[in-house]
Amino acid sequence: MHRYDAVIIGAGAAGLMCGIEAARRGRRIVVLDHARAPAEKIRISGGGRCNFTHLEASPKNYLSQNPHFCKSALKRFGPWDFLDRVIAHHIPYHHKTEGQLFCDNSAKDIIDMLLGDLRVHGGELWLQSPVQDIDKTPEGFRLSTPDGLIETAKLVLATGGLSIPKMGATGFAYDVAQRFGHALIAPRAGLVPFTLGGHKIDYISGLSGVSLNARARIGKTAFEDGFLFTHRGLSGPAMLQISSFWTPGQTVEIDLLPGTEVLGTLKNRRQNTPRQHIGNVLPDLVPARLSERILEAAIIAPDTRIADLSDKKLSALTVYIQPWSIVPDGTEGYRTAEVTVGGIDTTQVSSQTMESLLCPGLHIIGEALDVTGWLGGYNFQWAWSSGWAAGQAL
Ligand code: FDA
Repeated sequence: MHRYDAVIIGAGAAGLMCGIEAARRGRRIVVLDHARAPAEKIRISGGGRCNFTHLEASPKNYLSQNPHFCKSALKRFGPWDFLDRVIAHHIPYHHKTEGQLFCDNSAKDIIDMLLGDLRVHGGELWLQSPVQDIDKTPEGFRLSTPDGLIETAKLVLATGGLSIPKMGATGFAYDVAQRFGHALIAPRAGLVPFTLGGHKIDYISGLSGVSLNARARIGKTAFEDGFLFTHRGLSGPAMLQISSFWTPGQTVEIDLLPGTEVLGTLKNRRQNTPRQHIGNVLPDLVPARLSERILEAAIIAPDTRIADLSDKKLSALTVYIQPWSIVPDGTEGYRTAEVTVGGIDTTQVSSQTMESLLCPGLHIIGEALDVTGWLGGYNFQWAWSSGWAAGQAL
């Protein structure tokens, strides 16, 4: 029988941060993971360079049924606190956009920092150690693992959400939390490409790889960023961002030329250069392949002089540009989603300590909770902040 002050299940961003903090405070802890390697998502994140935080991260960058929940942890351990550690470990980094921080070399620098800190403070890490059973005892919890029974006063669920099952994602935290009476906010894939079907997929066929800057909007929420046509649908940062806000059946309004009034621009061109062919005018506004496709869809021959196009005909072109209103058929799902939106309902969890209000001694951190960040380093920041907060309370 092994005995610990705290067992943390999940050696991802949140679990490792939590383990470091608890060990630093003198607690005897072990971090367990069923995978062969820890922190696999950190390793592949940010294209291998880990977008480890965003310096402007604040509660407004998070989706949650309980928008106040993330405030305390983000305030007590914010982006600058994590950056201090990165600097103290001499990890070179850069801003991709203002405040969006990536490693210069590799995400491995962040993993090495976390594993080094865990080791220095005496925290243990058991890999390939799935928890087979959890029993509540008067003193805490008893866990069965392939490496034997473990007794612990505190138990932390840090196994993340459902995205990318191939990398070891499971619904473990959801199952355990539900067993102890917690409610779940229905999880769904977020930061995920959209898929199209029927005539919509015909329309985009041949456009795969075409990219531009666009604004994607659902209701009052809008993101302006990169946009990409794929073989199966629509991707790029603007679409990934809006996907977290999307529910099936909803229309996404996509402005493929933000900042330019397209109909007005075409009318000006008609007045100023009436003899020009529309097939030469439109590629000045959108990529050539897209321009060809729009003309086909609007049934306008490319060698039509712009002077011969009525206002109505010009408007028939702009509906594919500004806004292009589209109802996606679905998303690529957890197979490629960067995050899971929804998760364990935070109304039954302390925002100070991440401790369950239903089961004393049980803490829940990271992506397993119903707190989901935008694209841009916000999700790791939530993992650091919530892991740190729980680590102070173990
Ligand atoms: P995380 O998923 O990191 O860790 C959970 C751990 O629990 C894993 O080690 C897993 O093996 C383990 N586990 C699962 N089930 C278990 C079980 N039953 N028993 C034992 N262990 C179990 N965010 C960001 O801010 N910047 C970025 O650059 C990126 N980039 C990015 C790229 C890609 C491709 C993805 C998929 C995701 C991102 N993210 C991101 C999101 C970010 O990776 C994510 O939000 C955090 O890793 C969540 O941290 P957690 O520690 O909560 O879970």
